[in-house]
Amino acid sequence: MNDPAEFVRTAIDRLRAEVPGSAIVAASGGIDSTTAAVLAERALGDRAHAVFVDTGLLRAGEVEKVGAFFRASGLRFAVASASDRFLGALQGVRDPEEKRRRIGAAFIRLFEEEATRVGTDRLVQGTIAPDWIESGGALRDTIKTHHNVGGVPSDSRLVLVEPLRDLYKDEVRAVARHLGVPEPDRQPFPGPGLAVRVNGEVTAERVRRARVANAIVEAEVERAVAAGEIPRPWQYFAVLLDSPTVGVLGDNRVHGDAVSVRVVESIDAMTATAMALPRPVLQRIAERITRELSAQVVRVLYDVTDKPPGTIEWE
Ligand code: XMP
Repeated sequence: MNDPAEFVRTAIDRLRAEVPGSAIVAASGGIDSTTAAVLAERALGDRAHAVFVDTGLLRAGEVEKVGAFFRASGLRFAVASASDRFLGALQGVRDPEEKRRRIGAAFIRLFEEEATRVGTDRLVQGTIAPDWIESGGALRDTIKTHHNVGGVPSDSRLVLVEPLRDLYKDEVRAVARHLGVPEPDRQPFPGPGLAVRVNGEVTAERVRRARVANAIVEAEVERAVAAGEIPRPWQYFAVLLDSPTVGVLGDNRVHGDAVSVRVVESIDAMTATAMALPRPVLQRIAERITRELSAQVVRVLYDVTDKPPGTIEWE
């Protein structure tokens, strides 16, 4: 893509051709789906029904933040509260690919219900090129089944409409900027949410721990960026590991969780470099996580792996 204005004109024409009536628009608040939703709104007006799903796997304050963000982008949207459904679907599941398939299926079932209510079979999604490439498209091995690609059940009656499927993230950001979407450079957050940042079984309590740790990493990295200590990373987050470990609290032994902190630089997420965070920033993160999750998280690690051979998210 060379020219965002030209891309927007073509995308709007295509959306109008592919959606004869109305459409459900899957809107997660991320830059990809928000850009797709703004395009759908421009193309279809009130025939576009944006739905934001509260999966119970979101970051701290995300529902409120995403609501404000959609309003600033000029989007009308509905919120579907579905924590029980998503946590229920993940019960007892430890395998990362199975988690992704179950989450993808839970999203699609919910969108099917919305589609029936509205009387359509079209679903607009913000799928971008790395989503389907890393999900095993284009003759590549399946690295990860992205929730919006391989997670779609084969018996779904929904017809997918994907205006961004040939773009990479940096190109989506250029289109978002052109459309006036606020904060086009904010960090990505995966559709399966904190489920892929909780290694092993996903329970409400383990999601809560991951949520607190993620909020601390975000706050401390953003503080360091604002203070000019580091450039803005591509992505920065925490992963709750599935390896209980021994710690000490006062005079007592505690058996708690370990958290890994991941901060990477990248251009398009296809490759990434682990950022060399200054020691004081790491120290503040470790100190806050072990204090605010006292006796729950007793060890904090820093992930220095590039992509490849690692991936950005752990699962
Ligand atoms: P990986 O972990 O594959 O991630 O190196 C590359 C980029 O994609 C994000 N990611 C996802 N985004 N659905 C999404 O919308 C997914 O299933 C998914 N998995 C990973 C990840 O956060 C990183 O920015």
